[in-house]
Amino acid sequence: MQPIRLAIVGLGKIARDQHLGAIEATDGVDLVAVASRNAKLENVHCFADIDALLAADVEIDAVSLCTPPQGRFEQARAALLAGKHVMLEKPPGATIAEVFALDELAKRQGVTLYATWHSREAAAVEPARALLCERHIRSVHVEWKEDVRHWHPGQDWIWEPGGLGVFDPGINALSIVTRIMPESFHLVSSDLSFPENRAAPIAADLSFRTASGLSITAALDWRQTGPQTWDIRVETEEGPVVLTHGGSRLFVDGAAQIVEEDREYRNLYRHFVHLVVQRQSDTDFSPLVHVADAFMLGRRRVVDAFKD
Ligand SMILES: NC(=O)c1ccc[n+]([C@@H]2O[C@H](COP(=O)([O-])OP(=O)(O)OC[C@H]3O[C@@H](n4cnc5c(N)ncnc54)[C@H](OP(=O)(O)O)[C@@H]3O)[C@@H](O)[C@H]2O)c1
Repeated sequence: MQPIRLAIVGLGKIARDQHLGAIEATDGVDLVAVASRNAKLENVHCFADIDALLAADVEIDAVSLCTPPQGRFEQARAALLAGKHVMLEKPPGATIAEVFALDELAKRQGVTLYATWHSREAAAVEPARALLCERHIRSVHVEWKEDVRHWHPGQDWIWEPGGLGVFDPGINALSIVTRIMPESFHLVSSDLSFPENRAAPIAADLSFRTASGLSITAALDWRQTGPQTWDIRVETEEGPVVLTHGGSRLFVDGAAQIVEEDREYRNLYRHFVHLVVQRQSDTDFSPLVHVADAFMLGRRRVVDAFKD
């Protein structure tokens, strides 16, 4: 099969930090075009936006949408209607209804839709999932605390409705927990801290219950300076199972089991190639459903104004 001719839409931070290198390192996919209003890349066709890209005579098979979630629906819809396979950065959209609409449209068009969750590709996630199938879980606690000024400088969209605020990183934790837990869970309480000058929360304290009644708690905070914390601690009758560093390290009963280099985005593109070849989609929206529930059930607290 010919390599997938891919276009990136939104040549910003994550496209440059991760997508370009991962595409380069992946067999079966070639970057042939970029659509971005303010950025260009050498040696590929460049367009201002996706409409110009789709109207041009440059042949592409797929697009990878690396823009902010607000507005992603229109881009994905245009690409699907043009018969292109679509890979979505996380979160897959700004609302629940729109991502289900995209799923339906991809099915009707007979093309691949891949709602990616890069954190699920971290090295400790699948081993933790396998281990937890065999253990007796007592409880789960997530701590996802980082410095927004360091990771998201000047990103206004992230504070706007649909930008998710602290759930932009927090949804990564939820993508891991929904993957490693052997049973489903649902939200029971949500405390959201909104800076008085922003439309999105800077911190969230969440409490979930599993179908069998186990407790899952999550503390998300964007005000952490110094060491950053991206940990998931699962207490089991047999001993603790702890994922740290965003899921790249695994500690079982106190002993380090896995410490691995970051391969998340290479894994995503390898899976995308597989999905396109198999004419399949991969659209698990459950992390976004939990985030939407957190807003639905959220008790709003107003905290100090945030200045970038
Ligand atoms: N940053 C990370 O570390 C990271 C990690 C994993 C996933 N992600 C996800 O990747 C997506 C993009 O994040 P990012 O950090 O790459 O964002 P970003 O750099 O702020 O935005 C990506 C690009 O999208 C284009 N864009 C189109 N419409 C835009 C709008 N209304 N506002 C701002 N930019 C717009 C911009 O390019 P033009 O101006 O050239 O059009 C921008 O450079 C998000 O869904 C995010 O959650 C980010």
